Amino acid sequence: MICENLSINEKGHLTFAGVDTVDMAKKYGTPLYLMDEDRIRYKCNEYKNAMKEFFGDNALPLYASKAASFKRIYQVMKDEAMGIDVVSSGEIYTVLKAGATLENAYFHSNNKTDQDIEYAMDNGIGYFVVDNIEELCAIEEEASKRGIKQSILLRITPGIDPHTNEAISTGKVDSKFGSAIETGQAEEMVIESIGKPHIDLCGFHCHIGSQVFDAENYLLSTDVMMNFIADMKAKLGYEAKQLNIGGGFGVKSTEYDPELNIRTEIQRIGTFIHKKAEDLCVTLPKILMEPGRSIVADAGITIYTVGTIKTIPGYKNYVSVDGGMTDNPRFALYQAPYTIYVANRMNEKRDFIADVVGRCCESGDIIQKGVELAETMHNDTLAVLITGAYNYSMASNYNRLPRPPVVMIENGRDYVAVKRESLEDLVRNDI
Ligand code: LLP
Repeated sequence: MICENLSINEKGHLTFAGVDTVDMAKKYGTPLYLMDEDRIRYKCNEYKNAMKEFFGDNALPLYASKAASFKRIYQVMKDEAMGIDVVSSGEIYTVLKAGATLENAYFHSNNKTDQDIEYAMDNGIGYFVVDNIEELCAIEEEASKRGIKQSILLRITPGIDPHTNEAISTGKVDSKFGSAIETGQAEEMVIESIGKPHIDLCGFHCHIGSQVFDAENYLLSTDVMMNFIADMKAKLGYEAKQLNIGGGFGVKSTEYDPELNIRTEIQRIGTFIHKKAEDLCVTLPKILMEPGRSIVADAGITIYTVGTIKTIPGYKNYVSVDGGMTDNPRFALYQAPYTIYVANRMNEKRDFIADVVGRCCESGDIIQKGVELAETMHNDTLAVLITGAYNYSMASNYNRLPRPPVVMIENGRDYVAVKRESLEDLVRNDI
């Protein structure tokens, strides 16, 4: 199986994190997100241990919570002593409601509003990752009003193209994110930051993109960033205390995808960065990474019930499920590949080829094209694998479909972390 938390039981059903997915569909209804809490914790530890071993004792992974944001996940991150990356007042609010603190929270976004800045400071945000000069001035002003010195990192654009989907590539000079080294704007930001009395510039951040499989790209971006650190030391006498090298490690979602080993890649970056620091005669800063997808993606699957099965003679088969682009917009947005099984027919031959589509009123509402399924019947249970990242967090109420619940599984025990939305929830804000 594509991930070790998947198996087939004696009934020929797909199991996930040790539970029968067909039973889960019966118990909670569908569509349903299942998440494997043990796997999430395992991934956190994989990052923490490798980063400590290969970067240094003070290295810290931050969970990029845009991948899956709800109260329970922040409690898991708190337990695991992970830092967090937040991108909005909404994510900050969720952290606080979860009873976690913002001490090791890094606030991203290319367009933080004045209200976001105030709200984050009101609640003691650890760091702003400052994107641009206007934001820097707004933070200085707000910190000055409060008589505090606000810790920040600067988001630097290293000018690296990670060759991932254009929509999730962020490290090129022509990007809405950050300030580029190439244009001189990054240096300007450093000069401005160190000149501001209420700003404590702690270091730099870069993020080249998401779903990056070729880890060579991290060596390239780390190289650029370390050179920048040395350059700022030489020119301005400024020594960065932290370097955040971003998230983005790719996750295998079908048997055709390459596999990236987190520990091996961190070791590779670690070896490179220590040598680089030595060559440049700079002290290696505290290294941060901010993985999202690689922490939660294979800790999640989505379960649906099959409704209509349609064969168009001479064309193709369509299998419609009771969810769709509302709970998983990733094929519609990025043609994202997925592995799909008929969860109650795992031992049957997979020779029924169909497009798996949702129930929304548009033709682009596709979960996956040309899937090899077991002969599929009405009311069968369909499992879409590796949906833990950017599925729940990008879900919508298009066509007034309620969002599915998130059920977590911990040590064989299933519990609801996010309730299914009700019809009443859908009109909650309608006047
Ligand atoms: N750090 C920054 C600054 C980011 O912008 C992101 C992702 C991450 C970390 C985490 O990247 P990850 O490890 O999860 O790849 N909705 C898209 C992904 C957008 C990623 C946005 N930023 C998707 O469904 O594939």
